[in-house]
Amino acid sequence: MRIVILNNSDDVAAYGAQLIIRQIQTKPDSVLGLATGSSPMKLYDKLVEAVAAGDVSLSQCVSFNLDEYVGLAPDHDQSYRSFMQKHLFERVDIRIENTHVPDGLALDPEDMCAQYEQAIRDHHGIDFQLLGIGANGHIGFNEPSSSLRSRTRIKTLTMQTVEDNARFFRADEFQPELAITMGIETIMESRQIMLLATGEHKAAAVKAMIEGPVSASCPASILQFHPKATIVLDTAAAGQLE
Ligand code: F6R
Repeated sequence: MRIVILNNSDDVAAYGAQLIIRQIQTKPDSVLGLATGSSPMKLYDKLVEAVAAGDVSLSQCVSFNLDEYVGLAPDHDQSYRSFMQKHLFERVDIRIENTHVPDGLALDPEDMCAQYEQAIRDHHGIDFQLLGIGANGHIGFNEPSSSLRSRTRIKTLTMQTVEDNARFFRADEFQPELAITMGIETIMESRQIMLLATGEHKAAAVKAMIEGPVSASCPASILQFHPKATIVLDTAAAGQLE
């Protein structure tokens, strides 16, 4: 694991954007694994700026998102498909048909998960996987106790994750407690991984990921075994490291 500690979330986003831009410049048809949530938002803004400036193009890239809520239509404003459309896909030159987000309304979710895995294999695997980390150590929606060998599947969210994400839903709105997520082994097969974490509320999970034992209690700790994982932190998220 390579650990990079920077002053603040702006520097984390700028550093992260540079890594992903370099990846795409080196391999214009990169297969990108993408995340939603607050962690990558500023990075996406920087990527949008770089595309607008002509420094990089996503026109040949293919993307696979980590996860999606079960029960939300793609055009629901809290679906992860909507998030990606709004924060990245509609602002850059990626071809929409090259973007993949699990289908939250699939009638046969097991079959959809198997097809998602197959689509990743058909594209020869993920070149560059972007991750955030949950306050409980999850990656994707692989909550603590997830099998370290897991593949794309349906997971029940923990109460903590439901509460952490409640801020995005109106009080009277249906908030899903199930999600489809790439598995931990699916994520680990990516050729390169970059995890971003900022803020004091991530400090305990970051410590467990980097200094704790590799354990399903902190799914992100498996990244200790990845040959090319970069963890980019601000000083607050790094605050509990020895
Ligand atoms: C999102 C995802 C999650 C988030 C994590 C951190 O697609 O897979 O694992 O990365 O919950 O969320 P934020 O960045 O909102 O703190």
